[in-house]
Amino acid sequence: MSTIQPRIPDIDWSNGFDPYWCNGSRAITHWFNALSFMLPVGEQYFHETAREVAKDTDLSNDPRLAHEVFDFTVQESMHAAQHRLYNEGLAKQGFENIVEPSIVWMIKMGRRLLSPLTNLAAVCAYEHYTAILAEHLLNSQSKWMKTAPDMALFWGWHAAEETEHKAVCFDLYVAAGGGWLRRASMFIAVSFTFYFLFFMRAYLYLLRKDRELRPQKRGATVSLKHASFALRGPVGFAFAAVMDYLRPGFHPWQRDNRALMEAWLRNNEARLHPIRSSVGKLGATTA
Ligand SMILES: [Fe+2]
Ligand SMILES: [Fe+2]
Repeated sequence: MSTIQPRIPDIDWSNGFDPYWCNGSRAITHWFNALSFMLPVGEQYFHETAREVAKDTDLSNDPRLAHEVFDFTVQESMHAAQHRLYNEGLAKQGFENIVEPSIVWMIKMGRRLLSPLTNLAAVCAYEHYTAILAEHLLNSQSKWMKTAPDMALFWGWHAAEETEHKAVCFDLYVAAGGGWLRRASMFIAVSFTFYFLFFMRAYLYLLRKDRELRPQKRGATVSLKHASFALRGPVGFAFAAVMDYLRPGFHPWQRDNRALMEAWLRNNEARLHPIRSSVGKLGATTA
């Protein structure tokens, strides 16, 4: 039986959202917006890759993993769909998703040049980064997402589900015969690609474009204080993640943060709608 429950958050995107929804801060708001630009095609790549590897892997001895792969694909599909709505809101505010075409190209090249298992090693690396960022977010959200309850719900929902499924791709990778060298190599490649080719490019674009669109508005400057606040946690977590993930004996649940996730889910239960269960869907992910 799967421990993963896909949900959909109760958010009406039709009214858009505050351009500085994250505590009025230009620097931190665009940090999240830059992440959102990467996620619709990124998460589609994650669940398509997992599905492709699961299709050719005998999971008959591990029906729980087969269920969890199915629920992982449902969760990531929902995340991608919700981030598309978020990004439509950004487009209405005047921001073009400048990194999506490069990400699409990179995924296409990855699929053409690398095996499905090597692509899954890349997905495991991204899943590790999202799990680390998710833990940071669930730990600190109440301090700096005070001014936009819908966005707090949205990012909290995504972080909770990233935590819930953080080991699924890793377990599938091991079940499919993936080893340490491939996993570590793809982690290094993904780290470079994620930060320098995609994330920083998107973030710097958003800050520059924002100054053009709203030069006189609040949050008009990116103060050193704001920038260091925005980067301190994620950079520290990312460094710890690199060290941890590169250990040959690493497993995502060696860091057991279920209690944090469960507390957040309990506190927000009223605005989260369970949408689908993997029960009876075993055949969807087994060879
Ligand atoms: Fe996700
Ligand atoms: Fe994920």
